[in-house]
Parts: sequence; C-alpha cells; structure tokens
Amino acid sequence: MREPEICLALLGFGNVARRFVRLLDEVADRLDFTWRVVAIATKDHGSVVDPDGIDVRRAMTTVESSHSLGRLDPAPRERSGIDVVRQVTEMLADEAGDGHLAVIETTVLDIDRGEPARAHVRASLEGLAHVVTANKGPAAFAYDELEALAESVDRVFFFEGAVMDGVPVFNLVREAMPAVAVQGFRGVINTTCHYALSEMERGVSLDEAIAEMQSRGIAEADPSHDVDGWDAAAKTAALVNVLMGGGITPHDVSRMGIRDITTREVASAVTRGRRIRLVASASRHAGRLEVRVEPEMLDPADPLACLGPMENALFLRTDLLGDVGIVQRTSTLTQTAYALLSDLTHISRRLQEL
Ligand SMILES: NC(=O)c1ccc[n+]([C@@H]2O[C@H](COP(=O)([O-])OP(=O)(O)OC[C@H]3O[C@@H](n4cnc5c(N)ncnc54)[C@H](OP(=O)(O)O)[C@@H]3O)[C@@H](O)[C@H]2O)c1
Repeated sequence: MREPEICLALLGFGNVARRFVRLLDEVADRLDFTWRVVAIATKDHGSVVDPDGIDVRRAMTTVESSHSLGRLDPAPRERSGIDVVRQVTEMLADEAGDGHLAVIETTVLDIDRGEPARAHVRASLEGLAHVVTANKGPAAFAYDELEALAESVDRVFFFEGAVMDGVPVFNLVREAMPAVAVQGFRGVINTTCHYALSEMERGVSLDEAIAEMQSRGIAEADPSHDVDGWDAAAKTAALVNVLMGGGITPHDVSRMGIRDITTREVASAVTRGRRIRLVASASRHAGRLEVRVEPEMLDPADPLACLGPMENALFLRTDLLGDVGIVQRTSTLTQTAYALLSDLTHISRRLQEL
C-alpha cells in the first residue's frame, strides 16, 4: 500500500515545533507516511505559505537567526494564524477534503481564555484539516465544543502532548481502556515545578531552578504560569474534561502554586523524611467534582514522593482496572515532539484505512 503524504501547516514554530520537524526527519524510515510542510505561522517571525512545500531547514535557520519567514514566501504578506489556516485550507481544499491536511498547533498558552489556540483549532476543523496540538488551551477550555466539531466534520482533534508530553495518557485511555470509567486521578504533572522543588532540596533557589528549565526549553514561555500553578491547572482541566466529562476550565481548578515555598521549608521537610510536591488531583464526591492543584507534604511511601527531578506521574482511579499508574521518566523536548508525531501516526493510519 502506498504511504500517504500528509500536508502540515505549523501554527507556532518555537522549541516544540522545531524539535518536531527535526524528529520527523530523524525517524523518517520508521514512519508509514511522508509529509510536506505547506505553511508556518508565528507571532513575531512572520509567516510563509507555499503549497509546493517549504524548505524547513531554511525556515529553522531563518527563525533562529531572528529573521522573518516572509523571505521564504512566494507571495509574502502579513497574516495572523487564522489567516494562514484559511489560506491553506482554501489552497489545499483537495488535500483537506481527502483528509491529507493536518494543522500542528504549538502556539503559547493564554491562560485567560485558551486563545488563539481555540480559534486556530476551530478554523482548522471548519476547513476540514485534522488538528494535532501540544497546547493545553483547546482541551482545557473548549474540549466538548471542539471534539463535537471534529466528529461532525469527520476529522480528529488530538492533543497527546498537552499532558505528560509523549507518554500516552489520552491515547492510552482511548485506545487501550475501552468501557473503563475514570473516577479520579492524582499526579505530579508540571515538570518545571517538580524539578524546582527537587533542586530546592539540594539548596538551589527557585529562581535558579526555573532559569535551568528555561534554558532547556521546558518552562512555559511565561514561567509564572508554571510557578503559580496555571500550567498544572490547565493540564488538570484537560484531564477532567477528556477523561471525566468535566466541562470545566482551568479557572474552576482550586489552585495554589509554589511561589511562596522557600528552600528552607523544602529542606526542612526532607530532614523529617517528607517531600513537598505540587500535586494535581480530581475526584467526585456525591456527584460533585473536586479539582485541585496545590503543594502537598508527602509521606515517603507515597508513589509521588519517589519521583526523580525530571519525572512526572499520574495515577488514574478507574472502576474496572483499579488504580492505573503512568510514569514519565524522561522529560525533554523530544518527548513533546514525539507526542505530535504519535498523533500524526494515528491520522496516517486513518488515511490508510480509507
Ligand atoms: N516546551 C515544552 O516542553 C512543552 C511541553 C508540553 C507542551 N508544551 C506546549 O507547547 C506549546 C509550544 O511550546 P514551545 O516551548 O514551543 O513555545 P515557544 O518556544 O515559546 O514557541 C511558541 C511559538 O508560537 C508562536 N506564537 C505565539 N503566539 C502566536 C500567535 N498568536 N499566532 C501564531 N504564532 C504564535 C511563537 O511565535 P514567535 O516565534 O514569533 O514568538 C512561537 O513560534 C505551548 O502551548 C506549550 O505549553 C510545551
């Protein structure tokens, strides 16, 4: 059977998107599809649309040397992300109609309303493109609406990278746990805060630990989103919406970050055999959802107390399988990029089944 070619429109071309296109090249011989990048949109580095295919290496060098992508465009002009989606879905109407166009959304999370990612996802689905995103916003703010839209146009809206990078959480439940009801969860799901608290146990300051996470491209573009618990709250809302039918937003999560925790407090907990961790949890009591993100003083026997500095873990409480634990032992950009790649593989399989 011939491998499908998937046209890719990249909305956002930062750390994650650039690692993603490099990864596609690195593992090309393991993939059952080929690809052509037809559009790239950024906020301050311009945009390029070319249905014949963009030279992605040149695009990376252009952005990394702070030039505008417009210089690669056959007909350069100013466009927003939405303009790019509309142009691409019109220009590639045949590919979109056949399900061979995928929008890869990796813009920055806006914690007020989940925009512009929500609008990007909506416009892409309306233009009959599949959507893959590592952005938490769409699933955290508008999962029900966007999933219903995707189903109505027979396209997919995938977001595996939104929580625990490439380690399967959503795909695991969707593909491997049929008929299982998720009743709640508890986890450590923000790498930046977890790394910071782990490093503070060794006397490192919060600011130094955050700077290290920024230098590795892991902290959020605005690291106060990590420190104040917003990133974890967005992930928690996405998990509640997708796995528990919650219909909430990050603003419905009871939230406390780690900004006010001192190195002395963290070290003092260790001397008493305890660990302070930022824990995300959800449960239902008498039909009411209780959803929180807050630092907890953990007993050493707690599985969340034993994680290494770059590890995340999520324990799902289910009706048919009991507690199911998912541990992510490595957390780098490659794992986030892999999440996009794995979602794209699902699209390729759909195309091959047609
Ligand atoms: N980094 C991680 O480890 C990680 C892990 C999981 C999930 N994520 C999520 O993945 C997404 C991308 O993260 P990242 O680290 O790649 O961020 P990043 O390096 O800051 O890149 C963000 C990209 O989005 C572009 N952008 C921002 N606003 C835009 C808009 N309104 N329209 C079009 N483009 C826009 C930026 O343009 P400019 O280049 O012009 O600024 C940039 O190219 C975020 O939602 C993040 O939460 C990241």
